[in-house]
Amino acid sequence: MKKLVVIIGTLLILMSCSNPGNDNQKKRNLTPEEQKMEWWTDARFGMFIHWGLYAEPAGEWKGERIPGISEWIMCNAKIPVKEYEKLAETFNPVKFNADEWVKLAKFAGMKYIVITSKHHDGFAMYHSLASKYNIVDATPFTRDPLKELADACKKYDMRLGFYYSQAQDWHEPGGTYRGYDEGKPHWDPNLVREPFMDYVEGKAIPQVKEILENYGGLDILWWDTPFGMTEEAAEKLKAVTDDYPKLITNNRLYRPWPGDFSTPEQYVPPTGLDYNWEVCMTMNTSWGYKWYDENWKSSEDLIRMLVDIASKGGNFLLNVGPTAEGEFPEPSVERLKAIGTWMQKNGESVYGTSASPFFKLPWGRCTVKKVRGGTNFYLHVFDWPKNGLLTVPGFKANVKDIYLLSNSNQHFAWKFDGENLDIHAPSVIFDEVNTVVVVKVKGQYIVESNKPTLFNGSILLPADFADVYNPGYGSHAKIEGQGTKSVISNWVDGRSKLKWIFDVSEPGRYRVETLVNAESSSGLNLEIGDNKIASEIRSTDGKFDVVKLGEIEISETGDHMISLAPDRENWNGAELMYLELIKL
Ligand code: GLC
Repeated sequence: MKKLVVIIGTLLILMSCSNPGNDNQKKRNLTPEEQKMEWWTDARFGMFIHWGLYAEPAGEWKGERIPGISEWIMCNAKIPVKEYEKLAETFNPVKFNADEWVKLAKFAGMKYIVITSKHHDGFAMYHSLASKYNIVDATPFTRDPLKELADACKKYDMRLGFYYSQAQDWHEPGGTYRGYDEGKPHWDPNLVREPFMDYVEGKAIPQVKEILENYGGLDILWWDTPFGMTEEAAEKLKAVTDDYPKLITNNRLYRPWPGDFSTPEQYVPPTGLDYNWEVCMTMNTSWGYKWYDENWKSSEDLIRMLVDIASKGGNFLLNVGPTAEGEFPEPSVERLKAIGTWMQKNGESVYGTSASPFFKLPWGRCTVKKVRGGTNFYLHVFDWPKNGLLTVPGFKANVKDIYLLSNSNQHFAWKFDGENLDIHAPSVIFDEVNTVVVVKVKGQYIVESNKPTLFNGSILLPADFADVYNPGYGSHAKIEGQGTKSVISNWVDGRSKLKWIFDVSEPGRYRVETLVNAESSSGLNLEIGDNKIASEIRSTDGKFDVVKLGEIEISETGDHMISLAPDRENWNGAELMYLELIKL
């Protein structure tokens, strides 16, 4: 029996009556928190900027390449405070041009910028009166780039946020650092320790007051790494932000701490989170500029990632690490331009949209927007169909029109076939990266979920229904092909994990099998709730074979998540076509 999950757009009818006072009405129905967050959730796309003294060594110290992200170089290379401070004497980003940064962010389709006002190294990138260790007082540059950026943001109608490292401050005797919680000493023995609260009262609080007061009203304050944070410090910092009711803050002030939004870092979560969230992501591997980091994600990957995130109801904060001269690295500029070129034509399908009502679409993603009289469904087609038909599974609606977003004169014919909507898809591929097709629907609609569930005695989890979790750097596993032919390929990094969400209609015992191609024997860990199974897959001699992974007991009906991960980092790799849970 297929379980039907039905989403009915009743609310939409209420929202879409042709009443000119509709927008005000909508505002009145929002809670104060929703009103505050409205611009942010509509924006969907922002720019993160990590810029500081670390851009000068750019990942290299005394001729040695220091592993890790570049803004951590002081800690990773154990650089003494006095020595690191010297970087300020030569930091002179004369090519910095705030207007150009903002114009490029705007062209890319970004609606807000979040920039590091002080990172863990303790150096303020703005004119601070609370600490002389800042760009105006300690460098030959003597300008306040964040003031210039704030002015440019006002000029070009760009929202602005500052990142502030409230707990870690490697420069101060009371600041925290990695290992502080475990009682490890700071790497620099000359930094005579002082109590944490002295640092909080003497630097963090005054600096947070400065940035909130002096930069024309910040929209966002982005806290980071609450290492060693205390409740007392969190309360005091929060009291400062309480004076700014419109200010949006993240969840990294303290732990646990909800803030206004959560911050998945370097990965895209699975669908269906019912709170505000923002994925922060690097274009290569490092946040701060690292001259030899060539591990760039392609523009295609970034455009699809933005859309994937929007289709799950989240925001995307994409990072740029400017150089010590004050310029965006060329590969970042190229990518921002490519994203912008796509967004100029297709931005409507991203801004102000909400999450997809479909569980999975084999050819891409979907975003939706309420419009007068109904709903626009934006179908983001990553893989344009080769058989002439774009099928929207399990969809019943009063369709008024279907057209290409980038050219509304291009209409498509459609028909309903059983449970599906079939759209005629000509053989021309309009956009290799992501073609957006708009389905205009009047009134109510019904989406029948295609979430995997018990059917003919088993729950089948195909490769293209998996959420793939790759490490921030390293080799990335990916999904190739569609449906029964889809494969997880390039699964060579032992840190990459696969997860599937599925529905359980009948609790009981299930045998888990998988169709894999493994060159040599490897270990896999399977996890579902508290159940863990360690299993061994032997070599399948270069072909796909069904392998039994073990048996699990599922005691409750409803949604479950299963994850499959290699049991060690350096594993031998495998390709996988599906996972199957067979009811015993
Ligand atoms: C991490 C890092 C930091 C970076 C941040 C961005 O917490 O410590 O360097 O700024 O992630 O999300």
